[in-house]
Amino acid sequence: QAFFRPIIRAAPPSPTKRHNKISVIGVGNVGMAIAQTILTLDLADELVLVDAKPEKLRGEMLDLQHAAAFLPRTKIHASVDYAITVGSDLYIVTTGARQNPGESRLNLLQRNVALFRNIIPPLVKYSPDTILLIVSNPVDVLTYVAWKLSGFLSNRVFGSSTNLDSSRFRFLMVDHLDVNAQDAYIIGEHGDSSVALWSSISVGGVPVLSFLEMHQIAYEKETLEKIHKAVVDCAYEVISLKGYTSWAIGYSVANLARSILRDQRKVQPVSVLANGFYGVGGGDVFLSLPAQLGRSGVLGVTNVHLTDEEAQKLRDSAHTILEVQSQLNL
Ligand code: NAD
Ligand code: LAC
Repeated sequence: QAFFRPIIRAAPPSPTKRHNKISVIGVGNVGMAIAQTILTLDLADELVLVDAKPEKLRGEMLDLQHAAAFLPRTKIHASVDYAITVGSDLYIVTTGARQNPGESRLNLLQRNVALFRNIIPPLVKYSPDTILLIVSNPVDVLTYVAWKLSGFLSNRVFGSSTNLDSSRFRFLMVDHLDVNAQDAYIIGEHGDSSVALWSSISVGGVPVLSFLEMHQIAYEKETLEKIHKAVVDCAYEVISLKGYTSWAIGYSVANLARSILRDQRKVQPVSVLANGFYGVGGGDVFLSLPAQLGRSGVLGVTNVHLTDEEAQKLRDSAHTILEVQSQLNL
């Protein structure tokens, strides 16, 4: 007699259910924080890890697999061979050198471009219809590099960029001004030339600066500038204290993966091909703009009102990135 007798006949699997396969390339601090958050949020049916270090890779895979009893069911596998990623819906690329304390992100460029020349072609080969989400730094320039090397249309290549800075911005705003603004965006370069969009932030539909005045919360232009500077300095501080950043980028990228795979059509600041938006010109450049994300990748860029000063800062940020890009020979 059967030990287990089903009380109902099993329903056939729904034909509309998608099988989501996410591949995380690079299992360092950042790759693992992202992988762990993806599992916790139940975003993938299959999670693949790839890295150049086979022992570290197997160790990380086993450690995650051993959490099976506490997580939604996900098939986790790993290999140094990119063939394992075949048919991925989304690649998250985190491989590469990271900053030493005090070092700028842009300084990592030459080392990480060399890695990308080897990493991007196999992703295209094994998953020609995939979406590439770039995290390695300098993220905006490397998103451009990944776009060039992949030959994909620009809607299928984007960078995590200031999605993270915007979360830091929200955190610091609550801390300093006691307001929690959902649409507080930092745009431009994920780095020193980023731009805080004070003019478009609202709280409960009221522009934030009017909100502060209405609630008699004192602020000066310098306070706002200090908050933006603190956003820029955040990563340097964490790197000098613990050597790297990981948890916040883990949540930021898993959140972007959810927007894509669940077709959420949310607007988030991510690195996209920015030519022609907000007066950005001078060549192909990727930087963060408020973009709508869905199952086919970047669906479009939203037209947020910028003051003349903000628009000029954005163009300056584009110029900084383009100058760095001009050193590349792709
Ligand atoms: P890490 O040194 O911990 O991990 C890097 C991993 O890349 C290592 O496991 C290494 O084995 C692997 N790797 C190196 N060369 C490889 C190759 N050719 N093929 C496959 N794997 C290879 O570094 P980390 O702290 O995880 O940071 C990774 C990157 O993410 C850095 O560039 C860092 O600056 C960037 N980062 C970006 C953000 C962001 O907001 N965009 C945030 C944090 C870190
Ligand atoms: C960050 C990395 C270092 O945490 O780009 O901002």
